[in-house]
Amino acid sequence: MRAPAKINVYLGVGKPRPDGFHPLETVYQAVSLYDDVTVTSADEWSVTTVVDVPHVDGSSVPDDETNIAIRAGKALAAHHRLDDRAAAIEVRKSIPVAGGMAGGSADAAATLVALDRLWNLDTSDDELLALAAGLGSDVPFALVGGTATGTGRGEVVTRVEDNGAWWWVVVFDDEGLSTPSVYGAYDLLEGGGHDYRIRPQMLEAMRTPHRGVEIMVHLYNDLEDAAFSLRPELQTVAEVALECGAVYSLMSGSGPTILALADGADDARAIAGRLAERGYERTTVVHGPVAGAHVVAYS
Ligand code: C5P
Repeated sequence: MRAPAKINVYLGVGKPRPDGFHPLETVYQAVSLYDDVTVTSADEWSVTTVVDVPHVDGSSVPDDETNIAIRAGKALAAHHRLDDRAAAIEVRKSIPVAGGMAGGSADAAATLVALDRLWNLDTSDDELLALAAGLGSDVPFALVGGTATGTGRGEVVTRVEDNGAWWWVVVFDDEGLSTPSVYGAYDLLEGGGHDYRIRPQMLEAMRTPHRGVEIMVHLYNDLEDAAFSLRPELQTVAEVALECGAVYSLMSGSGPTILALADGADDARAIAGRLAERGYERTTVVHGPVAGAHVVAYS
């Protein structure tokens, strides 16, 4: 299975709910950066993380049953009362760890679908989405892909028509940023007492064929100031991206990955080249929207 990274082209955040989660209104976009997950039936649960790209540091990914891919597999087995089943899971990671691009969520989504197919469980889409929501706020979107709104704590996903061809330079960071710490900083700084809803004009603009850059006025991330307060150098990255020719720069999710919006593929590659000259060599060019978790090979 292959599952995409996500970015948030809009992220509005409200005041924390009684359960501690923040109500969100977000527009997710799946982009062409993927984790590949391979499952094999086994006597015991295991997970192996393989990293063969320079921008990912897999050293903090757990290799025990706290790994979200194993949690996903166990949740699926329990749902079907098949608690004696287990699998060996291999995750080949290209999505940064703790980068604000939902890499763990992609792995969980891919594992759910992979084991559903391997064990011929025929789990319905609604059941897969419910299991996904139980694993994390971003997991349902990794199943759905494309461009979609996320409400609730992000787990209520609705596809939206996006006729855009978006090109981004993804600027990776050496250290991850913990999602709860960014939300905590957000509560202290801002409190969420503002209108954070998605403007209908944004969804309307996405329906008309466009090149991303034409509708950049709608791009927004409520968590930027909070992440920048924890890691001020991230604001510098966003500024340098603009100096290097990006039409707009935006943080991905709760950070620290920064996205530079480009006017097409060639422009994106030129921006990446200029960023490298300024010392930001850990970048990649992606496009969106792309498909959610999907099967790439059976054997
Ligand atoms: O749902 P997920 O496991 O991705 O959330 C990780 C953490 O991020 C939560 O424990 C919470 O601290 C924070 N979070 C939040 N509001 C959301 C989503 C995540 O406060 N809507």
